[in-house]
Amino acid sequence: MSGVVDKVVVVTGAGGGLGRSYARFLAANGALVVVNDLGGARDGSGAGSQAADAVVDEIRSAGGRAVPNYDSVADPDGAAAIIATAIDEFGAVHGVVSNAGILRDGAFHKMTAESWDSVQKVHLYGGYNVIRAAWPHFREQSFGRIVVATSTSGLYGNFGQANYSAAKAGLIGLINTLAIEGAKYSITANAVAPLAATRMTADIAPQELLDKLDPELVAPAVGYLVSEENQDTASVFVVGGGLVQRVAQFQNDGVTFASPPTLEEIATRWSQISDMSDAKPGRNPV
Ligand code: NAI
Repeated sequence: MSGVVDKVVVVTGAGGGLGRSYARFLAANGALVVVNDLGGARDGSGAGSQAADAVVDEIRSAGGRAVPNYDSVADPDGAAAIIATAIDEFGAVHGVVSNAGILRDGAFHKMTAESWDSVQKVHLYGGYNVIRAAWPHFREQSFGRIVVATSTSGLYGNFGQANYSAAKAGLIGLINTLAIEGAKYSITANAVAPLAATRMTADIAPQELLDKLDPELVAPAVGYLVSEENQDTASVFVVGGGLVQRVAQFQNDGVTFASPPTLEEIATRWSQISDMSDAKPGRNPV
């Protein structure tokens, strides 16, 4: 398979954790990688070039091709500079892995507007900013591969992560529409909800579980979704601990009312309305 050989791929937040694994895996399989990382702390504070530089050094020492970039995905100009790095250094951009992320957890009743905003800015706006900057190149060359980092918190919710869950679910909405708009340009857009032991999960999951969640176990699926061969689009995969599985939205047959039902009529049919035993993959009715 041609895989990712000579493909130029931007991996955001690649100075550590999962992004580092993605960047190393892609480079080991022949891609030219822009290793973007702002180099801050888990809560998004601070910045530095050391994280991205260290991963670029690792890749180059192993014979791979990579360049660093230290811009913030949360800043539209920063995102444009990330894509410009790919164009200036490697002459093209074929793929974006939107992976950069921060956490500002807290129960919803204590969540400040600042912690809400900062998480949206990095995850949801960050994904938008970088993909938006790459999009004209993808259309022009009739090829593009997008992978966004979502989360089981976005799919199913998680206590203390209202800001993060909303951003992660928002990214699924984004790829669903990019898949439609990108189809005629051979642009695919998918999401991966990873499960991996990184600084983000270090104090969230028990150690026995973390021991089974090497980030290296997530990278191959991301690599496949970036590859030339991948035709899947608008799909979401949960990947971690060696398991790679697809998740999807389902809908049941529902109940059709010929005229606006009364409150009582809705209540009477509610168990049928909410019963998912005959559910099939959902689709947009229009
Ligand atoms: P991590 O904290 O190790 O890595 C995130 C990286 O993003 C860091 O190196 C950080 O410096 C960088 N970053 C943060 N803000 C940035 C910005 N504005 N611009 C550029 N870079 C920035 O975390 P991890 O676990 O590797 O997470 C990677 C992605 O996977 C995140 O989007 C996270 O939400 C997602 N994820 C991770 C899970 C896990 O089990 N580790 C579970 C579900 C989702």
